[in-house]
Amino acid sequence: MQLPLHSRLRVLTVSACLSIVAVPSLTDPLSAQDGAARTPPARKIYMGRRIAQTMHYTGAEWLIRDTREREERCSLMLKNLGVKPGMKICDMGCGNGFYSLKLAKLVGAKGRIYAVDVQPQMLVMLRDRAERDGADNISPVLGSFHDPRLPTGQIDLVLLVDVYHEFSHPETMLAAMRKSLAPGGVIVLLEYREEDPKVPIRPLHKMSKRQIELEMKENGFKLVKEFDGLPWQHMMFYGRDDEKKQPRPKP
Ligand SMILES: C[S@@+](CC[C@H](N)C(=O)[O-])C[C@H]1O[C@@H](n2cnc3c(N)ncnc32)[C@H](O)[C@@H]1O
Repeated sequence: MQLPLHSRLRVLTVSACLSIVAVPSLTDPLSAQDGAARTPPARKIYMGRRIAQTMHYTGAEWLIRDTREREERCSLMLKNLGVKPGMKICDMGCGNGFYSLKLAKLVGAKGRIYAVDVQPQMLVMLRDRAERDGADNISPVLGSFHDPRLPTGQIDLVLLVDVYHEFSHPETMLAAMRKSLAPGGVIVLLEYREEDPKVPIRPLHKMSKRQIELEMKENGFKLVKEFDGLPWQHMMFYGRDDEKKQPRPKP
């Protein structure tokens, strides 16, 4: 499907007005939606787990709701994330940039945030918010459903908050993120706890620790750290498991 022209123009116009670095993917004609011909078939189920639908951009206000800090203890999460000034971080499935903006402050002028999403409308909202915030170290990246279009071997930390369970191509996304990691780099998954019925999120949008472990191990990662102090979410840190040969993603 071709992106509506106004969406493309809007993304490009905002990009030109801001000092945010525009990465090539924003102007790449093979965008998330119009690359359908070259996109491998989407999975509905992966390793016994039903994959959730992508959250639509019209619901983005929910991501910046006033109650989020109280409900999810976002500041506590950031304190435990291990961000240092100068780091290169990917906010994968960044939405309207709730975490990208906070991370941009933490990494400072020498650091960079690659804010990846498949919905250009989310990136436009992110840009508007980044402009208001004066953040100039965020690179918005329009990824595709199977390729986040990240630089190879450079990313210190990939953060996925409430995103992984939506991936229609989990294996190719994991393989690409794995390739993007700098030596010692980690992928941090935050998923609503399926094991806890009190977490008020629809079951399809939750994941169990067991399932996360199963899928990450299968794709060449090992658990290096966990933080269990968040009220609603698992927070699991994964590094590359170079002992385990990574399976070739199926086309
Ligand atoms: C529930 S929202 C979470 C947004 C953000 N991480 C937050 O916590 O505020 C999930 C986001 O992931 C994005 N997404 C889904 N599949 C993706 C993929 N393959 N690559 C990049 N982003 C993806 C969606 O477009 C949506 O914006």
